[in-house]
Amino acid sequence: MTETLDIKITKTLKSRLAETDFDNLVFGRTFTDHMLVADYSDGEWKNFEILPYGEISVSPGISSLHYGQSFFEGIKAYKHADGKVSIFRPDKNAQRFNKSAERLCMPPMPEDIFLQSLLAVVDIDRNWIPTAPGHSLYIRPFMFATDQYLGVAPSLSYKYMVLLCPVGPYFTKALRTKIETHYTRSAAGGMGYAKSSGNYGGSMYPAKKAAEEGFDQLIWTDAKEHKYIEEMGAANAMFVLDGKLVTPLTQDTILDGVTRDTVITLAHDWGFPVEERNVSVDELIAGAKSGKLTDAFGAGTAATIAPVGSISYQGEEYTLIDPSQREFSQKVLKTLDAIRYGQGPDVHGWNC
Ligand code: COI
Repeated sequence: MTETLDIKITKTLKSRLAETDFDNLVFGRTFTDHMLVADYSDGEWKNFEILPYGEISVSPGISSLHYGQSFFEGIKAYKHADGKVSIFRPDKNAQRFNKSAERLCMPPMPEDIFLQSLLAVVDIDRNWIPTAPGHSLYIRPFMFATDQYLGVAPSLSYKYMVLLCPVGPYFTKALRTKIETHYTRSAAGGMGYAKSSGNYGGSMYPAKKAAEEGFDQLIWTDAKEHKYIEEMGAANAMFVLDGKLVTPLTQDTILDGVTRDTVITLAHDWGFPVEERNVSVDELIAGAKSGKLTDAFGAGTAATIAPVGSISYQGEEYTLIDPSQREFSQKVLKTLDAIRYGQGPDVHGWNC
């Protein structure tokens, strides 16, 4: 049964909206006026509160700081021309939030409470939702352990928070990528499918090394043999190979991405063949050489559809066709934009 969430609301006395430069937003650097906070203890979620965005006080002994018992989600809200606000597929994120929680021995957040918490804080900061093309309000729900305890064991207390950031495009150009054959993002039996903070922390060193070589992003491969494609940076990897949408099958090393699922659903709608399966590095490189690899992109909430400009492997760089000439991803972007900005039919009911 859905219960109305009781949220204590304290509004800011001084909005930062007027002094925010919406023309030069850097992803994740600008936060809105408010945030949502809730606590978990004695087996229940309580103290839901929306308050002015600002610092919080935590003990230096909390286990999330020491052992990484924390995870997050990423969701986007859009403003339509008529002023209506929609959040894109938050139900999927609510489900994945609880998959991450389970993997990290953290308490679930009832899906309806998760949704109500997003709607409430987005509504308060609705004037912060940018409307320029490619812009949106990025919603960052997250949870972290708050027990002061240095024993390695699940915490008994947690904080849940929701932050909001007005954002523009995460990437502004086609990406120069490198297939990573040494470092690993996740391994079978690990937690690659969860949005645990540590997955992202662990990816930074290999990404930094690749950046030093001039690459924008890594294409991750399997931990065992480095023969199969897994993800791209912090997004799912998707390709059009030999006229089919091809993407690695989600499993415990790969995130079950909402944008990935959206792209696959659109492809099915259009009768475009889809293959979710192991994708080998060899077939990708063969496709890049023969010209059968006609599209390649990262799919994610932050990244949206991020075109891959080139793929490097074993010292060879393969440049793909110009993103503006790619039929599939251009059509996906156009269709997605029409749905999210309320300019086209939302046949799957993705706007909440
Ligand atoms: C998202 O797309 O929301 C992500 O998780 C990427 C983020 C780490 C920037």
